[in-house]
Amino acid sequence: MINGVKPLERSLRWGMVGGGGTSQIGYIHRSAALRDGTFTLLAGAFDIDAQRGRAFGVSLGVPVERCYADFQTMFQAEAAREDGIEAVSIATPNNTHYAICRAALEAGLHVVCEKPLCFSSQEAEELAALSRRQNKIIGVTYGYAGHQLILQARQMIADGQLGEIRIVNMQFCHGFHAQPVEQDNPSTRWRVDPRFVGPSYVLGDLATHTLFLAETMAPMLKIQRLMCSRQSFVKSRAPLEDNAHVLMEFDNGAIGSLWCSAVNSGSMHGQKIRIVGEKASLEWWDEQPNQLRFEVQGEPVRILERGMGYLDALALQDDRIGGGHAEGLFEAWSNLYRRFAVAMDASDRHDEALLKDFWYPDVNAGVMGVRWVENCVRSADNGASWVAFS
Ligand code: NAI
Repeated sequence: MINGVKPLERSLRWGMVGGGGTSQIGYIHRSAALRDGTFTLLAGAFDIDAQRGRAFGVSLGVPVERCYADFQTMFQAEAAREDGIEAVSIATPNNTHYAICRAALEAGLHVVCEKPLCFSSQEAEELAALSRRQNKIIGVTYGYAGHQLILQARQMIADGQLGEIRIVNMQFCHGFHAQPVEQDNPSTRWRVDPRFVGPSYVLGDLATHTLFLAETMAPMLKIQRLMCSRQSFVKSRAPLEDNAHVLMEFDNGAIGSLWCSAVNSGSMHGQKIRIVGEKASLEWWDEQPNQLRFEVQGEPVRILERGMGYLDALALQDDRIGGGHAEGLFEAWSNLYRRFAVAMDASDRHDEALLKDFWYPDVNAGVMGVRWVENCVRSADNGASWVAFS
């Protein structure tokens, strides 16, 4: 149970790139990082507009001289300070992630980076190698993966409660972009422009989240080949897809499917995962995150509730309030940031024993997301053909 006691004796000196006052995702980064006292926000290059970024940083309580015009200046100036930042979060549009992440690692910083880490698996592998060389971690914010019931599912699958896994059925399908809303909304505009998002829209923006839920729940499944069909229902978005279906074959013979969409009219979020084994199935839906359905063939459905004593210790350790009260996205993110801090500290202390089995969305999760999108695009652009996963 998390009760406010700090997991570390120190608080990591922390900065942000992006996540400015008008951004969609900046606040949840700060809320999650600051929740448990594991990070202290001391610096930032918060905005593409330097003046606006400075004013916003000051309003957050960041000293004005540590509100920088750009990330290059920030990394250089902070490295020269004795009390310079040790970690940075990157919450900028996707086309900037690679350069900022690389510069941060080179400046000796731990990194929390938004997905997708970058646009090509070659770049992703480069970042992974650099993080190893620098002994700095990269955490990736697949937010809902930090929800306790995801780890509950992971443990139940590891314990064999489902038997051999046969089917992984995934979807992340909202309806918010069923019309060309990007015409009036700057946060959506860059998402449908290849100059900012690279080769994909919903595959990278949405599907990688759910793919990582599956990887977390059933880490033993390895994709052997996949096929992807993608569409641009709002024609002006072509060649970027606003809808896609992906079929995957896993090495144990299991089959997976992932439907991702921004044009699922009427749907609020629609991120669901159902894992079907030979004996039983598990199902989780992010719009009702406190419940995990456990369905054993021939028995009544069981709804496992977050925070209850019958859950596994792995799930209960991240509990913040008992069962019955709702926890959700903010708590899941806080759990991730708590884990990022523990991993950063362990990495600084060269505590290999702790890191060996310590779960969090790490650089490998980031690399996998990039590789998966690359394979999906290769398949889709080749007539939705099967491609060996590479
Ligand atoms: P946004 O467009 O709403 O905000 C972007 C922010 O970055 C703005 O404050 C902008 O001024 C700033 N910015 C842009 N370029 C910059 C630069 N070079 N230096 C400093 N600041 C810069 O974008 P949004 O929706 O907040 O997305 C940001 C990132 O977060 C994207 O990579 C997106 O994919 C990801 N995201 C992740 C979510 C998750 O659940 N993990 C959810 C939403 C977004």
